[in-house]
Amino acid sequence: MQATQQALAAARTSPVGERNRYARCIAASKRIRWDIDKDVIRNRRFDFSKKFLPDGLSRVNELTFLGEADKRLLSQIQGRSYANIFGLVERFIAAKVMEVSRDHWLGDQTALEALVRFTDEELKHQELFRRIEAMTAEGMPAGYVFTPTPNGVAAAVLSKSTWAVLALTLHIELFTQEHYRESIEPDGELSELYKDVFFYHWREESQHAILDELEWVREDANLSPDARDRGVTELIELVGAVDGILQAQSAADARYFSAVCERKLSADERQSVEALVLKAYRWQYIVSGLQQSRFGAVLTSLITPAQYERIGKALEPLMRSFTAH
Ligand SMILES: [Fe+2]
Ligand SMILES: [Fe+2]
Repeated sequence: MQATQQALAAARTSPVGERNRYARCIAASKRIRWDIDKDVIRNRRFDFSKKFLPDGLSRVNELTFLGEADKRLLSQIQGRSYANIFGLVERFIAAKVMEVSRDHWLGDQTALEALVRFTDEELKHQELFRRIEAMTAEGMPAGYVFTPTPNGVAAAVLSKSTWAVLALTLHIELFTQEHYRESIEPDGELSELYKDVFFYHWREESQHAILDELEWVREDANLSPDARDRGVTELIELVGAVDGILQAQSAADARYFSAVCERKLSADERQSVEALVLKAYRWQYIVSGLQQSRFGAVLTSLITPAQYERIGKALEPLMRSFTAH
């Protein structure tokens, strides 16, 4: 953690160090660049006899009354929403990255190129996730609903300060990588195509998280203490807004599951499914990222202990059921 803080401090005071980091992101982006059809999909279809999201993310094993087929179905429904939620957040991420690139238009052309590539990759990812939605729809019963709209969410998120939006973005792009490395990659029982989608996505996200951090720290250096304090408040509001989306989508996904699963569920069981899906989504999109050491290290290097405590208090209700993990 101290090494990260020292590196951050060095990046802030050393334009050469920053340029090198932008240049390394460009080099990595060129080296790993992939194509949706040629590299990821390769004329394949999803194998619906296999899970999509791994148990560590879907938490389906906590529902002990479900048989294997229904656990698999619930993992596929969550996996479908997982892809849709990435497509959703990438709308505001691409717009914000284009916006902050303005500061480099007539300045550091290496930084500008890195951010242009970042935006281009997020546009490609959105196309990939639209394709995944269409392909999962082909193999699943009718009735699935994805409740939020990319532009509606983007309008709400982008009404907040750049500091808060970049904080949320770094958080998302770090947990994307952690989910792949810790849960998706090691699971040998997942649909191969589903696994590949997040393998290729992960490879490009690694550069994005580095750029988020550079841009967030750069934005932070220009803020007054009052503006930063407002940023902290807005970050808390954004996490609350994410939770609102998760509440709606988990309810929709639990309803869909209850309507199409094999087992006839009792009212109590339906409630358990709904509670489990909300818990899984809070883990996936909020808690796993906040527990990421790099996010905590950057955040604590930018804010005061009192602001850190304010964030901790505000998010405590969301974190509570996960403190045992
Ligand atoms: Fe992405
Ligand atoms: Fe990204």
